[in-house]
Amino acid sequence: MKIRNLISFDDIDPGRWESLYTLCRDIMERPADYAGACRGKLLASLFFEASTRTRFSFQAAMLRLGGGVFGFSNPNDTSIAKGESLADTIRMTASYADTIVMRTPQEGAARAAALYSEVPVINAGDGGHHHPTQTLADLTTIAMTRGKIGGVTVGLCGDLKYGRTVHPFVTALAMFPGIKICLIAPDELKMPDYVMELMRARGIPHTECASLREAVGSLDILYMTRIQRERFPNGFPSESVDKILSRYTLTADDMRGAKRDLTVLHPLPRTGEVERAVDRDPRAKYFEQAKYGMYIRMALLLKFTSLPREMRRPEREGGSVCTNPVCVTSTEKYLPPLVTPDGNCGYCDRKL
Ligand code: NCD
Repeated sequence: MKIRNLISFDDIDPGRWESLYTLCRDIMERPADYAGACRGKLLASLFFEASTRTRFSFQAAMLRLGGGVFGFSNPNDTSIAKGESLADTIRMTASYADTIVMRTPQEGAARAAALYSEVPVINAGDGGHHHPTQTLADLTTIAMTRGKIGGVTVGLCGDLKYGRTVHPFVTALAMFPGIKICLIAPDELKMPDYVMELMRARGIPHTECASLREAVGSLDILYMTRIQRERFPNGFPSESVDKILSRYTLTADDMRGAKRDLTVLHPLPRTGEVERAVDRDPRAKYFEQAKYGMYIRMALLLKFTSLPREMRRPEREGGSVCTNPVCVTSTEKYLPPLVTPDGNCGYCDRKL
């Protein structure tokens, strides 16, 4: 079955991943054949939050396919600044575009948007929650550099609580055999409960490691993340950041103790947690990762912009009870209640 939206990585199954990756490979090999593949199609790019790679790579992807892009990177330039609701903004934008890509500080906003959009919605990051197209870039990088994805020990290091890229990455890893995960994070930045539950439910063996230096020698893939200072409800004391960085920074010296075929990933931007000297090591793949991100997004846009429009409206509105202050339901009060089978909020995944 075709998917209509990409909100979390649960929307991608192994068959869909294979089909996207195959298309991505073909685009990389024969880019000229795809130069007009989206001619006449428009991507709406709604960025309520800062972005460099994700926004630019989506724009570049659509332009390379011969399509057009409109949108904003500063919501103050739109009627949102006058108090327009997310639902109305999306409903109207969908009538102008063939696909919507959006990034918001509120968790669950893309899921909410999809309820009101007649065209596909792609989640380009919703608060500290999910960022599934980054995961597509991560998987593409692993497949391109290692030839396959399964049978590896993967270290996830840094801010696993608010670093939204690691959450869908874990869901994605669950699709492949022989994956072990090593969680390398300070107590205050540990993986959220719903991701821990997912690892248990899907039978992914996982361990916790106190420091990067201790773990690095056992890893095949090391996924670094920055501390997401902007997501701390009451700010994060800079002395704590310095203390954390001293134990969770990847140095050229650490690389000497790592496997010869280690793959180092980072969604970027980095803010001190990967020493610049590591860039010269051929095992550092984070800049390639950003480049592959554009090609896999081309594959996604090709699939999504060719889907027929479908009218979508929730049958009833109002009544959501989530207490997460950054859940989209905290500002968009009209949204219908959504609950996961585990009893979590269907927008942000927090326990209700
Ligand atoms: C990440 C994001 O925005 O979540 N960046 C990206 O999209 N490549 C990671 C981050 O901001 O730390």
